[in-house]
Amino acid sequence: MLEISSGIRHFPSYLDRPRQETMIETIREIVSAAPLFTPVMPGTGKPMSVRMSNCGELGWVTDKERGYRYQPVHPLTGEVWPPIPNALMQIWNDVSGYHLPPQACLINFYADDAKMGLHQDKDEQDLRAPVVSVSLGNTCLFRIGGTTRTNSTQSLKLASGDVIVLGGEGRLCFHGVDRIYPATSTLLKSGGRINLTLRRVTP
Ligand code: SIN
Ligand code: FE2
Repeated sequence: MLEISSGIRHFPSYLDRPRQETMIETIREIVSAAPLFTPVMPGTGKPMSVRMSNCGELGWVTDKERGYRYQPVHPLTGEVWPPIPNALMQIWNDVSGYHLPPQACLINFYADDAKMGLHQDKDEQDLRAPVVSVSLGNTCLFRIGGTTRTNSTQSLKLASGDVIVLGGEGRLCFHGVDRIYPATSTLLKSGGRINLTLRRVTP
């Protein structure tokens, strides 16, 4: 484990290849029940480059009219989200150091040309709980800054099987994905990257 800065911990190769493969199978089942959708920016309706879904009692969604929020049902199917699988609950228990379980798991799928702009995760009411992130598939260049947008940033690569925890003083740090490196993993047959983030939403 490497402490990137206060509260930000990187666990390279946390999941070995067999556990990554099992996780991908599980995610495929979740996404067949709760299909990927394209999130859009509040106000402008501009589509983001990732496609996403969720599992857990709450899912993070966004649309032009109502903006960023958590809700118990899928925005297109109206169905409740599938439960968070045990393998992810176990990762949370092992690394979060938090006494309550996660309520949401965002599933982000990045094609090889997708990215995610610098942002803070602050739609959760419970900011004492960390965000636990699992990377699968192609390596990405991840950027982490401080708690204001103008703080200096550092970049690190997140590879398939890596886990990163944003907690404590790092919970509200700005972060984003600058790029995906094509063909750096054989886990996903059609390339790209999947990121899973476990979050506690309510105290
Ligand atoms: C996110 O910030 O929601 C995703 C981060 C990542 O893809 O690693
Ligand atoms: Fe985020």
